[in-house]
Order: sequence, then structure tokens, then C-alpha cells
Amino acid sequence: MPAFAGHDDGQMTAPDLPAELKVALDARLQGFSRHEAADAAASISRTYRDGGGSAAIRTETDALAYALARMPATYAAVTASLNALREIAPHFAPQNLLDVGAGPGTASWAAAEVFSSLQSFALLDANSALRALALDLATDSARLRELDYRRGEARTTLAAAEPADLVVASYMIGELGDAERGALIELMWAKTRDTLLIVEPGTPAGYARIIALREHLIAAGAHVAAPCPHDGQCPLSTPDWCHFTQRLPRSRAHKQVKEADVPFEDEKFSYVALTRAPVTPRPARVLAQPVVTKVEVTAKLCTPDGLVIAKLPRRAKADYARARRWRWGDAVTAKD
Ligand SMILES: C[S@@+](CC[C@H](N)C(=O)[O-])C[C@H]1O[C@@H](n2cnc3c(N)ncnc32)[C@H](O)[C@@H]1O
Repeated sequence: MPAFAGHDDGQMTAPDLPAELKVALDARLQGFSRHEAADAAASISRTYRDGGGSAAIRTETDALAYALARMPATYAAVTASLNALREIAPHFAPQNLLDVGAGPGTASWAAAEVFSSLQSFALLDANSALRALALDLATDSARLRELDYRRGEARTTLAAAEPADLVVASYMIGELGDAERGALIELMWAKTRDTLLIVEPGTPAGYARIIALREHLIAAGAHVAAPCPHDGQCPLSTPDWCHFTQRLPRSRAHKQVKEADVPFEDEKFSYVALTRAPVTPRPARVLAQPVVTKVEVTAKLCTPDGLVIAKLPRRAKADYARARRWRWGDAVTAKD
């Protein structure tokens, strides 16, 4: 059994919203009653639970409620995915971003935080209320002030968009029908100069969408940078599914809007980052929170050779100590 070393995580971007964005959101909240926002957030959450999408977001209040209820979590999921990508491809320094189904601009904010190299941001979305909010939130941001936000059907706006080094679709493709999704995925890939990142809810359905597009684009020449350490078939089978979790702090406003007591939430997400050029080396991925006992650490790993349940006994002192620090979602390399 090979031992696995954890990767250096000294450069991770924090999962909570950047201060500039928090200030902008708080400013938007002035003049809105918390009850109004909470009611709108509850109704939007209900719509999502019932399988509906963001079409229910029509007014300024709806858009703000969506941002308060969901933006911290989708921001945290995109940031975690981008952190994983940056860890695998540390030299990737995208200059421009295309954010498809951008909503309030969540993925653009996350990408701006993770990649200081980004200079231009193109956002596409059909929803006027979310577009208006995104523009408003970005007004005072040095990085995002100049963003270019096109409103319209994704296929039309994407067809007209310039290709970008980094293309992101966050919590978006689940709102599309199967045929439309397939066509849009191909178009997104065509507009990708280097890396395409798709993030979805960490549900079996979200994972199924990710795995289908992964297979489709690998057949078209893409390579997986993260989370998978290989371009082969996913070794997981039903009822298991590949997903990760990100803990994020809840602000007071967020707690009120969600009518929640705990000061944090755990967002489950699935993602794939696909690149034009193969990325090497590709470390193994920790697929669940490892179980630590006094005898051993047991970790479920996706490796280039398939699924491995690694057992690191306490008597292998250094390996055991290292494995105790592993977290679900970490990239870990087999030691020589
Ligand atoms: C759940 S929201 C996610 C927003 C943002 N990416 C985030 O992570 O917070 C989905 C977004 O996709 C947009 N969208 C869905 N289908 C679309 C389409 N066919 N054309 C353009 N935008 C679309 C919606 O308007 C909405 O803003």
C-alpha cells in the first residue's frame, strides 16, 4: 500500500465572501425589510426544492434574496473548486474570464479572488434582475467595476462572446433541458482557451450532469485537471456519487434570511475542471472525510488506478500523522 502525502495548501483562498462584496450586499439591504427579504428567500428556496430554477427571480427583492440566501454558498463552492484547480495547475494565470449563467456575479467574484492575473470579466445571463444586482454590487470594486455583462439566452450570447482563458458555469447547467445542455456544453468548450470549470449542487443529479459532460468533453479531447486524477471512467457506482463539502460562515443577515441558528453552513457541491492540455502530475483525491482511530486512518481515495481505501496504521508514524490532517476534497500524492 503506497503512503500518500498531502499537498501544500498555503495558498488557498478563503471560502467567505470578500469584504468588498459583503459591504456592497449590506448596502443593498438598507431600505429592504428583513422580513420581505426572508419571505422572498423562502419562496425562492421552495422553488429550487421543487425542481424550479431562477426564473422565479423577477424583482429587485427576489434578486437580493437570492444573493443573500445562496450567493455565500455558491461562492464558497466555486472558490473551493478554483482552489483545487490552482493547486493542480499552479502556473495557470488566466487573463480573462467568461462566466456563463453568472447571476449576481458569484463566480466572477470568486475567480477574481483566486486569480490575481484576471483582467477582464465577461458575464452572460438571461435574468435582468440578477444582472442589475451584479452591476450594482460591482460598482465600487476595483477589479470588477469594468465587467461586461451581456443579457440574453446563453447560447446566443455565448456564440457572440470572445473565447476566454477560463470559462465557468456555476450552478447553471441544471437549469437547462438535456438537449440545450449538451449544445451549451459544446459551445462553452469551444470558447475555452485553457480551462472550463463546471460546478453543480453536490446531489446525485448534479454529479450525473457533471459526469455526463466530463465523458462527452474527454471524447472531444479535454483532460481532467480536478477533481479526478485520471481521464478514465469514474470508479464510483450508484448509490455513491462524487461530491465535496465546503463549510462557510453565516452572517447575521444570512441567518435571518435563512431563519437558521447555527453560525455556519456546509455546502455540498460537485465539480469538474477540464483543460486543453493534460496536467501532470495528478494526485489522488480524498473522496470522504477520513476516519481517524487510535489504530489507523482510513481514507477513501480516487487514484489514477481506481478507487482505493487506504489504511495508514499508527505504527507508520509519519504517514499516520500526515493522513490525520487529510480533509475531504484534498489532493494527496503517493510517496515514492
Ligand atoms: C442558480 S443561478 C446561479 C447563478 C450564479 N452562477 C451563482 O453561482 O450564484 C443560475 C443562473 O443561470 C441563468 N440561466 C439559466 N438558464 C439560462 C439560459 N438558458 N441562458 C442564460 N442564462 C441562464 C439564470 O438566469 C441564473 O442566473
